[in-house]
Amino acid sequence: RTVYVNGDYLPETEAKVSIFDRAFLMADGVYEVTSVLGGKLIDFDGHIKRLERSLNELDMPKPEAFDDLLDIHRKLVEINEIDEGMIYLQVTRGAASDRDFVFPDPEEVKPTVVLFTQNKPGLADSPAAKTGIKVISIEDVRWGRRDIKTTQLLYPSMGKMMAKKAGCDDAWMVEDGFVTEGTSNNAYFIKGNKIVTRALSTDILHGITRAAVLRFAREAQMEVEERNFTIEEAQGADEAFITSASTFVMPVVEIDGKAIGEGVPGTRAARLREIYLDESR
Ligand code: PDD
Repeated sequence: RTVYVNGDYLPETEAKVSIFDRAFLMADGVYEVTSVLGGKLIDFDGHIKRLERSLNELDMPKPEAFDDLLDIHRKLVEINEIDEGMIYLQVTRGAASDRDFVFPDPEEVKPTVVLFTQNKPGLADSPAAKTGIKVISIEDVRWGRRDIKTTQLLYPSMGKMMAKKAGCDDAWMVEDGFVTEGTSNNAYFIKGNKIVTRALSTDILHGITRAAVLRFAREAQMEVEERNFTIEEAQGADEAFITSASTFVMPVVEIDGKAIGEGVPGTRAARLREIYLDESR
């Protein structure tokens, strides 16, 4: 696989970043995951806008290559012949000359930019979308700026491991009794004709897929309510689902061992997935 590092396209085995890179030492980096369907980038503009926002919120300098990111994405898709899959983009504050908590001078230390592709044939036609996934709930102990897409993913990784140990696929995080989001996705339930999901704030990532799906839902005459909800309320719903760039709309059929509706993917979530895939391709 060919990857991109700071202006160079290289075989992945030859790509290098410094051990002093601040993302390696301090998780001082931000990232985006953009999906590819039929060789086409999905929601690219949304991902780039959010990247810009993440950089701003962390006072991280914009990399020189910022305006070339679309071309770089396209080139990697082409070189690696990606039909269905993902592109991972990471920007870090760069490699200072030593380990120091204080940010380096942006005149001296330039951001590190890394991109690589992940080939995922069958991503759109995923078997999991037909069976639905099972989630557990865990306490949300992440930091308070979850709206910034940083590379601090240790707790989400631990959450996925807790789910796996419990024989489930993922975890929904709960803070002060209310669901925030999934470990790497936004969380929803459907009751009647109404979709409920947590409102945007610093408590959750402002999902690019979330924005698109809520727009399509409204266009399809579904009601959308952005508010706090509990695990119990979601367990009593007709349907539940998650959204992210890597899962699109994925039905949730069980929460903490309790079946949602009939315990099979609901018709509305399936329809939203269909609309999302149709509109994106
Ligand atoms: N995760 N919430 C969290 C905590 C996330 O990490 C993500 C994305 C989302 C969904 O955002 P979007 O629809 O823009 O992908 C919500 C990516 C896919 C990941 O970490 O792999």
